[in-house]
Amino acid sequence: MSNLPIGIFDSGVGGTSIWKEIHKLLPNENTIYLADSLNAPYGPKGKDRIIELCKKNTELLISLSCKLIVVACNTATTNAIDYLRSHYNVPFIGIEPAIKPAALKTKTKTIGILATKGTLSSELFHKTSDLYSNSITVIEQIGEGIVPLVESGKVNSSEMQSLLQKYMEPMLKAEIDYLVLGCTHYPYLIPILKDILPREVTIIDSGEAVARQTKAVLHDHNSYTKNNTIGKLIFYSNGNTEVLNDLIDVEATVEYLNF
Ligand code: SIN
Repeated sequence: MSNLPIGIFDSGVGGTSIWKEIHKLLPNENTIYLADSLNAPYGPKGKDRIIELCKKNTELLISLSCKLIVVACNTATTNAIDYLRSHYNVPFIGIEPAIKPAALKTKTKTIGILATKGTLSSELFHKTSDLYSNSITVIEQIGEGIVPLVESGKVNSSEMQSLLQKYMEPMLKAEIDYLVLGCTHYPYLIPILKDILPREVTIIDSGEAVARQTKAVLHDHNSYTKNNTIGKLIFYSNGNTEVLNDLIDVEATVEYLNF
C-alpha cells in the first residue's frame, strides 16, 4: 500500500501550487495529479455539478490505485468534501481558506479574502467565517475571471494586473492587514499582489498547511512510501498540457488524458 501514489485533483492547473508544497515536504512519494482544465472554472458552477465533477476525478484516481486523495481546489472542497468522504473508502484532504490564522493575527481587525463565488457562497465557508465575524471584519471579494486567465497561461498579463488592482481596491480602503487566498490558482498571483498591496499586508495561502496535513494522514495510516529516491510524478490534463508543464517546472510525465 505504501508505494501507491498520492492522488491530487483540481479544476485545472492551480492545484499545482498545493502539489509543489506536498512534493517539497514528501519528495519520495509517488504522485498523480489530475487537472480538470476542460471543466475549469468550478467556481461559478452549482453544488450538484461540482459534486458530479469531483466524483469523476475521484473515481479515476481510485482506479489508478491512489492511497489518499487531496482535493486541491477550494471550490471543490467547500462544496463536495462531505459527499466524497461519505461515499468513498479512501482518506481525503481538502483545502479551506486560511481564515483562522488571519483572524487570530490581524491587528487592524480587518482581513480580506479573495475566492471564487462557489467558495464564498458555500456553507462550509460561512461556518468558518461566522466563527470570527463578531471580533473582526472580513472583506469578501469574488475573483471572477482570474482562473480562466491562469488556465490560459496569462498570469503575468495586463488583464490580470487590472483585475487584481480592481479587486484589491476595497481591501485597501478597508485597511486589511491580512489577505487570505481562497483558491489554489491564486498563489501564482502573489508577486503581482505584493506590488499592489502595502508591505504591511501579509498574504496567506493554504499550501504548507495542506502538505503538513498530508504528511500527518500518511503517518496515521502507516502509509509513507518506502522509496528512498524522488517519487514518480505523473500529471494528466484534459486541457492544455503546456500551461501545466510551465507551472510545475520539474522533470515529470505530463500527458493529455480524456477524462
Ligand atoms: C475554480 O475552479 O473556480 C477555482 C478553483 C478553486 O476554488 O481553488
